[in-house]
Amino acid sequence: MLVIENIVNDNPTLQRYDWPLVKSFNQLDTKLLNFINNSREEKKRTLANLVRSTDSHGAFLNNHLGTIYSYFYGYPDSPCYLNSDVDLELYIQEAKLILEFSFIHEWLKIVEAPFFTSQKDAVSHLKHLAMKNSGILHELFNFIEREASKEAILEFLRLEVLRNEVVDDEVALIVVGLQGNMKKVMVSNLWDECGNGNLTKFHTYWLRQLINSLLDWNNFIRYRSEKQPWFSKISSNSFNSLLFRPQYKFRAYGHFLITEAWVEPHFVKILNGLERVGLTQSDIQIYFSAHTKIDPHHTKEIITAIEYQSPALTLEEIREIVIGAYQAIEANLQQYKRVLNYLKSF
Ligand SMILES: [Fe+2]
Ligand SMILES: [Fe+2]
Repeated sequence: MLVIENIVNDNPTLQRYDWPLVKSFNQLDTKLLNFINNSREEKKRTLANLVRSTDSHGAFLNNHLGTIYSYFYGYPDSPCYLNSDVDLELYIQEAKLILEFSFIHEWLKIVEAPFFTSQKDAVSHLKHLAMKNSGILHELFNFIEREASKEAILEFLRLEVLRNEVVDDEVALIVVGLQGNMKKVMVSNLWDECGNGNLTKFHTYWLRQLINSLLDWNNFIRYRSEKQPWFSKISSNSFNSLLFRPQYKFRAYGHFLITEAWVEPHFVKILNGLERVGLTQSDIQIYFSAHTKIDPHHTKEIITAIEYQSPALTLEEIREIVIGAYQAIEANLQQYKRVLNYLKSF
């Protein structure tokens, strides 16, 4: 429970900026508008024609899904912000579902998850997978740690802010539809995201500090709309492709497990890279340094809740968690390899 004074008197300086830092909605991108206005069959045909080129297909899916998800979060960049338009919402929903199908099944092509014959085997597979997979030691993070130029690191930080700017909302969406231990740990995770009730400890407040001391508020808004590369949206889009779908709630949980487990190994290398190029102020590093301490515990919470969920999860439910974990790995590998090539050009 919060003490009322904690609400009345909690007004740190950087809280005065809107968050997330978005431009107000103006108009839909023409390509997306054309897609939305197409019939269902034409939509599927448009995507089928793109399948041959992984990059064109990926750019189309990821740019448009990114725009569409902003509609669901309801910040001022949403086409439906303070605007009640049922037809527009119906069109957006249809486009979203068709884009998501193509994203998950035609573009990502996640590997087939194994079937399990016992609960114990399923949980131990998941524990093992969370700690040992091809994303943990990805060379992108070695590059950041040892080689990336200061300019490349600044660009990487911009992408990190964008990737994480609404993680608290994403976590809030996982809470829905879970009960028992699994709900408990996701609420605990959300409460941590919300600084345990202190605005300066919101994880997004640490991103505010990072923008304020390094990335510049005005430039950042422009960067998002003009420069953010499509492949830096893959990770968030993959997570969001599950979060709004009732049939995928366990997949979303498994997806989150993997990305939480990666935080500590990745952020330690990012911090070493920041030190190497002289970005040593605590305002710049706090987002990363704080998470290296918090997220190993979050990972443990998430796994333990699966193991001790009551009533126990069925084999099918656990397999769904595993499928979500595989999706997280595949989606992030797709992102990391492209971001690595991109940063090498700075
Ligand atoms: Fe966080
Ligand atoms: Fe976390």
